[in-house]
Amino acid sequence: MKVLVIGSGGREHALAWKLSKSNIVTNVFVAPGNGGTEIEELIQNIDIDANDIETLSAFAKKEGVDLTIVGPEDPLVDGITDKFQEEGLLCFGPSKDAARLEGSKEFMKDFLIRHNIPTASYETFTDSKKAISYIKEQGCPIVIKADGLAAGKGVTVAFNTDQAIEAVNQSLESKTFGEAGSKIVVEEYLEGEEASFIVLTDGNTVIPFASSQDHKARDEGDLGPNTGGMGAYSPAPVVTRPIHEKILKEVIHPTVEGLKSEGSNYCGFLYAGIMVDANAQIKVLEFNCRFGDPETQPIMMRLKTDLAQLCLKACKKELSNEKLDWDERKSLGVVMASGGYPFAYEKGNVIEGITEESEDLKVFHAGTIYEEGNIKSSGGRVLCVTALDDSVSLAQKKAYDAISSITWKDCFYRNDIGYRAIEREKN
Ligand code: AMP
Ligand code: GLY
Repeated sequence: MKVLVIGSGGREHALAWKLSKSNIVTNVFVAPGNGGTEIEELIQNIDIDANDIETLSAFAKKEGVDLTIVGPEDPLVDGITDKFQEEGLLCFGPSKDAARLEGSKEFMKDFLIRHNIPTASYETFTDSKKAISYIKEQGCPIVIKADGLAAGKGVTVAFNTDQAIEAVNQSLESKTFGEAGSKIVVEEYLEGEEASFIVLTDGNTVIPFASSQDHKARDEGDLGPNTGGMGAYSPAPVVTRPIHEKILKEVIHPTVEGLKSEGSNYCGFLYAGIMVDANAQIKVLEFNCRFGDPETQPIMMRLKTDLAQLCLKACKKELSNEKLDWDERKSLGVVMASGGYPFAYEKGNVIEGITEESEDLKVFHAGTIYEEGNIKSSGGRVLCVTALDDSVSLAQKKAYDAISSITWKDCFYRNDIGYRAIEREKN
């Protein structure tokens, strides 16, 4: 079977790597891929942009691709799955309609309310004066979110009114996020511990993956600006068995049922960002209509089940009660980024010292290119060094040991990935 993975990040490297291990897969193409997928023996990069839906579907047709798996949200929100289906091609990912769960925060919040799914209270605004007066009424902390896709930069957690007003004005007046920020959701601030809960669904059956937790903030101690994610590990200890069951019962099943009842076709990965509070109550922070990045990297290291089979069955609506097989060890991935990320950063620096890989250590690439025999940085998040071991602390040590030999100009990473889980292990 020929498989095409769309995207160029660490998530896509991890998905393609996992798919390349499948017994039923003969070819893995990645469009456009990165330096890491380029140097994988069993993977082939295809130079087509992830958002160029027409050219991607023409390639899939010409090449006889049996299954396409979409990594990032943009092509999903733009309707890639619908286009592939029109062309008679199997494409794993939600339809344009269903991808609004990620494409519009307003749609997502209204959907949650319609289906009685727990989430923070909120109001939507297009008028900055009204938004500011609501914020003053509610008080801080408060959260301001651009309605549309803003590459993870559209959310501000404001701890005082000045910060909140600035976020409102940036979005509604200065149009920092363009059309995506012409509407905002202003939301109650939630306290607790976050977890990423990702499932695979064909619209009827739901198969949960192992839980995970990422570190979204740039700086140690989870401080500083929001990023796409600076590291992640699996499982997330906050997702205990009862919390796992609660998320399925109160969030995932009502969401899949709700989408079905509204006529939306959700076949794909569904990612719920969940806040778990001190009383073990849960609320939805966000939905993503795809796998998480960097959560994919540690989760794929632990997944033993054939991913290609799973996605194929989902596309054919043949999922039944599959039980996933997991490596019982813990996994942890540390993102190595370009200095300056999530703001401006240099590209084109040669990366040295990428370690020999083994069954329990893998360097997934994100913003890299392979040029003249060198791997060079080409993006904000550059590598995700991911390790498996018996505890999170051992996996952390293994990942940082490997990192200590990797270097390039301005390279930057957090030293505390996994600290919450490691604290728990000490107790
Ligand atoms: P989102 O893209 O909506 O998940 O927001 C990005 C990050 O902002 C989340 O992972 C949280 O760390 C934080 N965040 C979002 N919404 C809230 C909220 N209502 N309360 C507290 N933190 C939030
Ligand atoms: N790691 C967060 C995300 O993929 O949205």
